[in-house]
Amino acid sequence: MSHVDQTTESNSEHTPAETAESQVEVVTDHNHKLYIETVGCQMNMLDSELVVADLRKRGYELTQNVKEAETILFNTCSVREHAEHKIYSSLGRLRYGARKNPKKVIGVMGCMAQKDQKLIFQKAPQVDFVVGTGQLAQVSSLIDKARVNHSQNVRSRELAVGLGRKDGKLAEITNSFQSYDPLRDPEMRPSPYQAFVRIMIGCDKFCSYCVVPSTRGPEQSRSPREILSEVNVLADQGVKEVTLLGQTVNSYKHTQDGKLYRLSDLLYQIHDVEGINRIKFVTSYPKDMTTDLLEAIRDLPKATRYLHVPLQHGCNDVLKVMKRGYTVEDYREMMQRVNEILPGCSVSSDFIVGHPGETEESHQLSLESIREFRFKNSFIFKYSERPGTKAAERFKDEIPDEVKKRRNNEMLAVQNQISEEDNAEFIGKQVEVLVEGPSKSAQKAIEESLAEQLVGRSNCDRIVVFDGNPRLAGSLTRVEIFDVTPTTLIGGIVTKEFQHNPGSSLPILQ
Ligand code: 5AD
Ligand code: SF4
Repeated sequence: MSHVDQTTESNSEHTPAETAESQVEVVTDHNHKLYIETVGCQMNMLDSELVVADLRKRGYELTQNVKEAETILFNTCSVREHAEHKIYSSLGRLRYGARKNPKKVIGVMGCMAQKDQKLIFQKAPQVDFVVGTGQLAQVSSLIDKARVNHSQNVRSRELAVGLGRKDGKLAEITNSFQSYDPLRDPEMRPSPYQAFVRIMIGCDKFCSYCVVPSTRGPEQSRSPREILSEVNVLADQGVKEVTLLGQTVNSYKHTQDGKLYRLSDLLYQIHDVEGINRIKFVTSYPKDMTTDLLEAIRDLPKATRYLHVPLQHGCNDVLKVMKRGYTVEDYREMMQRVNEILPGCSVSSDFIVGHPGETEESHQLSLESIREFRFKNSFIFKYSERPGTKAAERFKDEIPDEVKKRRNNEMLAVQNQISEEDNAEFIGKQVEVLVEGPSKSAQKAIEESLAEQLVGRSNCDRIVVFDGNPRLAGSLTRVEIFDVTPTTLIGGIVTKEFQHNPGSSLPILQ
């Protein structure tokens, strides 16, 4: 499929230095040390991976030390206000350093860049460029441009962001990720054996509280051909598990050579890629959980029995205010199909507490929904009013923070109890674990050549820790569980390392 450049607005505001504070020295060289801070979802982690890969090709090397870096990037998130505050305070800490060392170039990318654009320059004048989610391929040229400006004693303000829906030019929002995504930086991955693959961008659901449709634009699915070629490259690099990414990943639809491909079709195709042993996908939208998809997971041993399908709230009135487009009854019907077609499948959820319209009674219904649906885990968020969303326009954020906090804690307590109870069911059973490597607490012991605790995930996405040889990293290993916590299964290896054989008659493990 041909690549079409995303329409960009590129504003340069070159202002000759006027005050001592904004004076910059003439700079001709720099140290190529790159510091990148990423907040937000897996999409952002993937974007950072791609940007770092591109910059490495150009001679940059990563550093964890922001002070020594002369190229500093922030990949930002706008989903909650807290995430934005975090970035502004990191930027604030850099203000003095940037003034002292004119070689420093600072860029802001991601959702905040898309949403706030020039506001970032006002709040953080030391920022050299702001680049939106669809223009990340331009990062290296923006860095170079900023350096040239610095060397000419000019303060640069580069803005590269795509047109949002507000511009009313939907047709002009085309994707730039197709030629960009294959760039990869293995060091930025969760582990050498796991990689994210974006199969779609954007969202068309417009939940009333959410900024994503305006920061990531409309839903667009990538072609199966592009996706498969990327998965093949990843398999050649030793990746064993791919996680397919999309804001509403199960809404995936793409017509290629006259045939409509859905997520289930894509799973079948990826299943045939040699070397890939596990396929996951996040995040699903409840109304798009079609039976063909559940049957594909049932029939494809490499597809994990794990679904992340946020319910968001347990009360129909609140779901209506949220404009989620389904009721608790609809969700129940989906869960019944999941449990029938995929026995043992884990489901996790997101919830928002303190959304406008939430009463004490409706909060109780959210608690009840965790008990009813027995989620593997839930991510629970306090409602954060986001300017520009329907919820912000129409409703007051009137629930006090202490109430949101209390409700949040109550949700967590119920979820923890459920998680622990359900994890306890695994005691005495065996699970098949994709070994990720040494667990965090074992890292130090490994450095000192002591015993190793490994960590991995079961087929139903539970974290499993067990003692073993780090050589097992990347393999599928069978572990018997003898203890649990609400978040972790603890066990020991039962058989030698084995590679998954989809045609084998091994019992289905969780
Ligand atoms: N306030 C709080 N939580 C939010 N989320 C999205 N928007 C908001 C908001 N304005 C949560 C939803 C979503 C997750 C990624 O973030 O639960 O599923
Ligand atoms: Fe946001 Fe709703 Fe789209 Fe999820 S489905 S990204 S919550 S608008």
